[in-house]
Amino acid sequence: MSRIGVVGAGYVGLTTGACFAHLGHEVVVGDVDADKVRRLAKGEVGVLEEGLPELVREGLSTRRLRFVDGAVAAATDAAFVFVCVPTPRAADGDADLSTVETVVRELAPVLRPGTIVVNKSTMPVGSTTLVARLLRDAGAVPEIGVASNPEFLREGTAVRDFLSPYRVVIGADDPAVAVRVSELYRNVQAPVLVTNPASAEMVKYASNAFLATKVSFVNAVANICEAVNADVREVTLGMGYDPRIGFEFLHPGPGWGGSCFPKDTSALLRTAAAVHEDFSLLDAVVATNTAQRDRIVAKVHEALGGRPAGRRLAAWGLTFKANTNDLRDSPALGVLGRLIADGIEVRAYDPAGGEAAREILPTLDVVADPYDACVDADVLLVLTEWDEFRWLDFTRVAALVTGRAIVDARNLLDPAAMRNLGFTYRGVGR
Ligand SMILES: NC(=O)c1ccc[n+]([C@@H]2O[C@H](COP(=O)([O-])OP(=O)(O)OC[C@H]3O[C@@H](n4cnc5c(N)ncnc54)[C@H](O)[C@@H]3O)[C@@H](O)[C@H]2O)c1
Repeated sequence: MSRIGVVGAGYVGLTTGACFAHLGHEVVVGDVDADKVRRLAKGEVGVLEEGLPELVREGLSTRRLRFVDGAVAAATDAAFVFVCVPTPRAADGDADLSTVETVVRELAPVLRPGTIVVNKSTMPVGSTTLVARLLRDAGAVPEIGVASNPEFLREGTAVRDFLSPYRVVIGADDPAVAVRVSELYRNVQAPVLVTNPASAEMVKYASNAFLATKVSFVNAVANICEAVNADVREVTLGMGYDPRIGFEFLHPGPGWGGSCFPKDTSALLRTAAAVHEDFSLLDAVVATNTAQRDRIVAKVHEALGGRPAGRRLAAWGLTFKANTNDLRDSPALGVLGRLIADGIEVRAYDPAGGEAAREILPTLDVVADPYDACVDADVLLVLTEWDEFRWLDFTRVAALVTGRAIVDARNLLDPAAMRNLGFTYRGVGR
């Protein structure tokens, strides 16, 4: 079993650390956020991830998992160092690698000969080579390996996705480095694909761009369905049975968001532009996504009879998707920001709390109960596909609201049942 250092204790780093400890490795996770480190050392996990608190507590009790301040403390004496820090969108649309660069310069002097630095953060083509060069320039010993090992976990099912992934991709120029990284996954049942670094980096971007394309495609189809009296749910069912198409990512809604798709599509477009390749297909995917948010805003305006100012909206769901507490680039917040700017008062509920949404939308009223959100509302807007919304007491909702209009941006509710209760119902593509 190996001694692994993980830099960054976020969704990816914490999952990587806890899962590797579960697989028997000795793991030290370092983060710059001293408060987060202190809480994790007590077994307090701040992200909503099924099974993760249990794995963290298991790792702490077996002493195979420790939390420390900073990258250097995590990497000292490690045979592998996984870089799991943010790579957000820079002002020019590219991936901002400044945190990665800072971490690599910090690590360079403490890495022992034979250590392998593994890029798990999502980084554009050329980053494995860049990290190797930065290490050299910062005075690291020459015998350090560098590999790309992109992460494909989904928030909400991160532990399951890490321990039972569809595939493990390892990109390295040196086959011996790839073999050593692959051995860390020995107890993980998944195909292991070894590639050169550029291919591994492209697999991650191409995968996310493809998934974003599926969502934008189905949103465009849904909008046509509305005009031709087709029901997109029946259409996607009919499409999805074809295994070449599949059911996943064929759900229309307010558009894709989250911490990955927006920045990764943007970075891939920058890569395409840098090599003078036309990727207008992906440009259209992004434009379709922006337009989809406008469409949900327009549905609310329509439900309010075109008179938004001073009206009240109940919003269910703030996170970018269900089963996570992540609000980064959430389509829900994008839509609500527009509606608030139009003079609408919004009272919102999210099963994961969503209080942090006030940092993004200061006038948003976030309440702890879905029914509270509905009091005196003119319109009820469903923005995230939390399953619990299906099972709420809509007779009670009907008694609380002022206007009987529902905009269901996730097609979560039963239109017939809603109409029976006297609501006008607007879904997406149905
Ligand atoms: N979240 C996902 O679903 C997901 C999935 C696949 C890949 N990724 C990629 O993984 C990377 C990390 O994403 P995330 O969602 O885990 O981010 P995150 O924001 O949840 O976590 C990043 C962590 O890094 C820490 N950090 C920042 N600077 C640091 C430094 N100098 N030294 C030590 N720690 C530092 C932060 O305090 C934070 O705890 C990104 O490149 C992202 O694109 C994310």
